Amino acid sequence: MFSLAVPRNVLWLLVPLFGCWLPCLSDLKVLVRLEDGQVTEENIQADSEKDYITLEFKKTDGTFVTYLADFKQDVKIFRVLILGELERGQSQFQALCFITRLHSNEIIPSESMSKLRQKNPHAVRQAEETRGTDTIQMDVAVNFTKGVQLSPHIHNICAEAKEAIYTRQEDVRLWLERGIDASMFEVLPQPSSLPSLHPCKVCNQDWKPCICSYHLGLEWVPCSLKYCKNRDSSGKMSSYRCGIRSCQKAYNFHFYVTQKQLCLWDEET
Ligand SMILES: *[C@@H]1O[C@H](CO)[C@@H](O)[C@H](O)[C@H]1NC(C)=O
Repeated sequence: MFSLAVPRNVLWLLVPLFGCWLPCLSDLKVLVRLEDGQVTEENIQADSEKDYITLEFKKTDGTFVTYLADFKQDVKIFRVLILGELERGQSQFQALCFITRLHSNEIIPSESMSKLRQKNPHAVRQAEETRGTDTIQMDVAVNFTKGVQLSPHIHNICAEAKEAIYTRQEDVRLWLERGIDASMFEVLPQPSSLPSLHPCKVCNQDWKPCICSYHLGLEWVPCSLKYCKNRDSSGKMSSYRCGIRSCQKAYNFHFYVTQKQLCLWDEET
């Protein structure tokens, strides 16, 4: 007989997957509360063989957010599809891609993710840990065609954002040390070198270049594994993975745009 030693009040199960052969793909839907109080469905897919996770959700204003963690390349990609304001001459939607280094404590491994099941799928989740907001200067543009070297996922995820793929110099330095081709990166103008460059928020001419800001909040990310203790028949203690810990994390991305038109959400209110 098989029994999972599940302590009371554990909501998350890491189940051994009988009937799951490699590649092991999984799809988990989790209800989460957004910053504005609304509830949305987060869709988390894991591929343990290709070793990546995607987490997607729609914000209240219709913006569609994708977070892809590529463990093979230690790269994370955020893509946002922002609905345009047609009456202001914008296209149907605007896509942005932000690429930075993936650290080991940001999200659980794809192999654990693919085994994660929830006990009560109708419960609205709230993260157990708040990890605050990172402000990141995305001061480098990434060439879409060459970006495949950085992560093969860029071709799928950032296809709509070809002209708006950003990263930062700090990460580029590390990638160059790893032998990534430097010609895919282009350092963008910065306020330090171009004093006429201001935040788009305070710029009042639609055609002027400026520094745009985008706030991205991830309300619920399975960020680490929980371990439970077990005593076997001989009395020996052992620990095993029995669940996850969830985190909330936000980012403020600052990036160069050639005209304020491309940053209409960022306005003084
Ligand atoms: C990106 O790289 C491709 C392939 O080398 C090149 O043809 C293209 O002009 C580059 N794009 C930009 C915006 O530099």
